[in-house]
Amino acid sequence: MAEVTLDKIVSLCKRRGFIFPSSEIYGGLNGAYDYGPLGVQLKNNIRDFWWKEMTQIHDDIVGLDASILMNSKVWEASGHVNNFTDPMVDCKVCHARFRADQIDLNGACPNCGNKDSFTAPRNFNLMFVTHIGPTSDASSQIYLRPETAQGIYVDFKSVVQSSRVKIPFGIAQVGKSFRNEITTKNFIFRSCEFEQMEMQWFCKPGTDEKWFPYWREQRMAFYGKMGIRLDHLRWHQHGPEELAFYAKDAYDIQFLFPMGWQELEGVHSRTDYDLTQHQKFSGKDMTYLDPEDNSRFIPYVVETSAGLTRNVLMALSDAYDEQVMPEGDIRTVLHFHPSIAPVTVAVLPLVKKDGLGEFADKLEHELRQDFVTFFDQNGAIGRRYRRMDEIGTPYCVTVDYDTLKDNTVTLRYRDSMQQKRVPISNLTEEIHKATKEYTRV
Ligand code: GAP
Repeated sequence: MAEVTLDKIVSLCKRRGFIFPSSEIYGGLNGAYDYGPLGVQLKNNIRDFWWKEMTQIHDDIVGLDASILMNSKVWEASGHVNNFTDPMVDCKVCHARFRADQIDLNGACPNCGNKDSFTAPRNFNLMFVTHIGPTSDASSQIYLRPETAQGIYVDFKSVVQSSRVKIPFGIAQVGKSFRNEITTKNFIFRSCEFEQMEMQWFCKPGTDEKWFPYWREQRMAFYGKMGIRLDHLRWHQHGPEELAFYAKDAYDIQFLFPMGWQELEGVHSRTDYDLTQHQKFSGKDMTYLDPEDNSRFIPYVVETSAGLTRNVLMALSDAYDEQVMPEGDIRTVLHFHPSIAPVTVAVLPLVKKDGLGEFADKLEHELRQDFVTFFDQNGAIGRRYRRMDEIGTPYCVTVDYDTLKDNTVTLRYRDSMQQKRVPISNLTEEIHKATKEYTRV
């Protein structure tokens, strides 16, 4: 198997319209990316897969879409104003900026190679500041949220009062978060604007001991369902120096990205810290009255916090493959699970003429009711298959002269490249079945 490098992924993403640098015609902007036609579909599919897993398949999880802009007291209460910092150093020679915890401070500058050139580390707050209203002074200062989780905490009481949920229950949210990251290399892995998929599980103090391992197991299993190779995922438990002071325990799910093992998702046992802080700063009661035994308490929280945009990079990296074909040419293929592939079915007439083009066009319109489809009638059929392989389309349907006679088509499977003849009347069912039973070849 060919080596998967980040450069290959970046180049495929640009070539095929998955992801481009933001505002590229003006030279781009550090840590900001645009998701093109295929990228946005892939991202939405991963988001929907997660949303379904959390709010539909699991019991007792409700959704939320909180505002990105929040009262700035939220971030004082959560500790972000005082503590959400990274240590930063500059090279005095070339002025490149680094996170002090990511380089050898006694070594040479990774950018210009000069030794002993670093400034003393100073703490840098990662929150983006902006202003609300016409004046730009301290009273109008607000922040772009650096995580979606706080929206869930501050709405906890509103959800309890309006949704008849009973503890234990969860609130799930997907949305944009912003961090003024000092180092943004590695493509979309660490960007300044990104998306998170977070779920806070509220439970009775003490029962977190049971829910924490439960959610760890569930979250790892989720990636198996998404088609990610499980031997490319592992756990990393936070040591005492990594663990936030309020956290009881924390594990990261790491993925083997092209640049090495890196965090994909965090599962955190956060105790009653956040709700207690919001009770303190807002003066509002954040306790829960348990109807079972009339006890009143501030719930404990188990958090599952995944990066959606980081999931996109994982899905691309895990799917990417280059295969040497018997004729010696290279097939680039993305082995996406069919549930997240940006295009599910391509419909390809063998040739445009003799009514095959029209027939295929009509069939593609019918399949649109069930799948994301793509119609392509230009070029040799082999080349069209390769174009679909390169964007990870799991099924190609070919309309040929026999189709006009017997209403059957050729269904080609991306991974095995095997083809079989299928009556059009069975096609939708066949594709649903193959998607349900999919395992990567
Ligand atoms: N509420 C907890 C929280 O935000 P985190 O470990 O800071 O925890 C959770 O972030 C996840 O969000 C990470 O595992 C990662 O996938 C994603 N993430 C964090 N910062 C990111 C960034 N700058 N760019 C892309 N994804 C990021």
